[in-house]
Amino acid sequence: MTSEAAKPIRVALLGCGTVGAQIVRLLTEQAHELAARVGAPVELAGIAVRRPNKHRDVPAELLTTDAAALVTAPDVDVVVEVIGGIEPTRTWLLDALRSGKSVVTANKALLAEHAGELFSAADAAGVDLYFEAAVAGAIPLLRPLRESLAGDRITRVMGIVNGTTNFILSAMDETGAGYAETLEEAARLGYAEADPTADVDGYDAASKAAILASLAFHTRVTAGDVYREGISAVTPSDVAAARVLGRTIKLLAICERVGGDGGESVAVRVHPAMIPRNHPLAGVGGAFNAVFVEAEAAGQLMFYGQGAGGAPTASAVLGDLVAVARNLVVGGRGPRESAYADLAVRPIAQASTRYHISLDVADRAGVLAAVAAVFAQHEVSIAAVRQEGRAADASLVVVTHSAPDAALRSTVDKIAGLPFVHEVVSVMRVEGEDS
Ligand code: NDP
Ligand code: HSE
Repeated sequence: MTSEAAKPIRVALLGCGTVGAQIVRLLTEQAHELAARVGAPVELAGIAVRRPNKHRDVPAELLTTDAAALVTAPDVDVVVEVIGGIEPTRTWLLDALRSGKSVVTANKALLAEHAGELFSAADAAGVDLYFEAAVAGAIPLLRPLRESLAGDRITRVMGIVNGTTNFILSAMDETGAGYAETLEEAARLGYAEADPTADVDGYDAASKAAILASLAFHTRVTAGDVYREGISAVTPSDVAAARVLGRTIKLLAICERVGGDGGESVAVRVHPAMIPRNHPLAGVGGAFNAVFVEAEAAGQLMFYGQGAGGAPTASAVLGDLVAVARNLVVGGRGPRESAYADLAVRPIAQASTRYHISLDVADRAGVLAAVAAVFAQHEVSIAAVRQEGRAADASLVVVTHSAPDAALRSTVDKIAGLPFVHEVVSVMRVEGEDS
């Protein structure tokens, strides 16, 4: 029997927007090749949308507004979800899994909150749950973590996982412009959404970091476990200060396995950080994403590519759909959730990084010594100090060696109260350098 004559795999598509429309296009244009790769035709059983009249390019008979009915329809094998948000999507996907449908989703917000519940439902029904597109768009990243590196021990995952903020920070670095005007430009060019909050405040990256940490460390990490700072406080003077020291600023997602007296734990954080301009992540410009993975045996790996956009994201979704469809054809299943390690998640106060602190001070004898003394009292070691300007307008930049966040916070609070310190202008982490 040819692939085309085999029993078709029937797909319910939830959503037909930026990503969904590209999934429909690729499923249609590549129907023969997909059938050959899967061993059976992959057919659309229906497409759930909010406003059917808007979707004139799609066969009208496939469109429905009743997603709840579509996900449990008897002739559906796989549900592909590209709507987004938590509810009602969570309910629909749980219903689909409980009805024995495998699920492919691009929904990072949902997975970062409810992965445990969704995986339990998938296990109970013996079906698949795949979500490659949820982190870093087109970049094959989750499958390498979940499958290719399953025999190794991952120690760190660090990367740029949000295209909107990377576009803004890259533009600020190139032009010297401020955050607000660069955000406006990003919106005008279609890089930032009408409501950019999830991107610029780091929520999107925090969801992705939670998913990455869960897979890397075999531990369930939710978005609420991730320390998060966005980019709205990054100023042109921060960007200029980074440049003077041969660095640039990126919004990083960092997931680390950390040792300690109480045993191993994981630390997961999202924040802007200065990185050296010769670091591979510094060259990641515009809306691109890139992720570094460090594993004990494999060493350093880097994944780079388009982290968003209709066609790139649809590529990742279709990769998952083919995997799920192949499993259905042979009667098997893909990997289940692996949360056996169940490591504790460390609070940010215990995370250690280097810091760049910029102070506005009076230029008087003894000021540097007094500032240095506060660092010493809190056991924060200074790596470099630089002063610019004179008299009332001096600026002092201190770069530290690696220090716990709590110690650094106390140091900065104390320094802010010194009589000759006019202002703590900025405090920013430094990554990608030896501690
Ligand atoms: P869009 O806003 O472009 O599309 C959303 C689709 O969902 C629309 O077709 C909309 O219908 C439909 N929809 C919304 N609410 C309902 C509802 N209650 N019932 C039925 N249909 C509904 O989103 P995107 O395509 O950009 O994103 C989809 C998912 O993919 C999200 O989870 C997102 O995080 C993720 N993702 C997106 C990327 C991107 O670059 N866009 C990158 C990586 C992941 P209608 O068109 O009729 O309004
Ligand atoms: N808003 C996201 C970004 C889309 O800017 O990267 C991909 O998840």
